Amino acid sequence: MRTLVVDHPLVAHKLTVLRDETTESPTFRNLADELVTLLAYEATRDVRVEDCAIVTPVAPTTGTKLAAPRPLVVPILRAGLGMLDGMMRLLPTAEVGFLGMVRNEETLEASTYAERLPDDLSGRQCYVLDPMLATGGTLAAAIRFLTNRGADHITAVCLLAAPEGCARLEDELAGLDVPVTVVVAAMDERLNEKGYIVPGLGDAGDRLYGVVG
Ligand code: URA
Repeated sequence: MRTLVVDHPLVAHKLTVLRDETTESPTFRNLADELVTLLAYEATRDVRVEDCAIVTPVAPTTGTKLAAPRPLVVPILRAGLGMLDGMMRLLPTAEVGFLGMVRNEETLEASTYAERLPDDLSGRQCYVLDPMLATGGTLAAAIRFLTNRGADHITAVCLLAAPEGCARLEDELAGLDVPVTVVVAAMDERLNEKGYIVPGLGDAGDRLYGVVG
């Protein structure tokens, strides 16, 4: 597993406003969207492309286009939805599949409650969107789900990660024969006793969409 912490002043600036507890949901959503587009630029560095012949107004030449099959973007519900538009801005022809996963707040283990994905993901590059890589349980389960269906290249895009979650992910994916890259805006200090990232930004779903009872 490769972890890429995107080091850019605009990423750091936007992330700081996201972290601030006084930032309201509308601003939080806009900034998360912009931040994901910046992360997407790095996350798509390995997107598969192929040569194509085109003719400019001046001469024939060889260009580059996204290769088939199209990449698949997979937001993990619910908070990953807040990252979808920012990702699709750079990959507008990607397909989108959905994975609903919930974390049991006592055991901190993840389970799948909904999915809308192709049965066969052979040869597909998948971009998983999950804002908080905290314990790593949700992301590990999502990656296993996708690779069990044949995905052969996984990039996870996260806003924040905790070192404990990265270590667990690395551990759980140790035998996996599929390249996995995690692209993140910052690696925070640690997890607290409730499994929240410290200093973090709180509950990403609540910050994006408000608290639902
Ligand atoms: N999920 C969140 O939304 N925030 C955290 O800090 C950890 C998990």
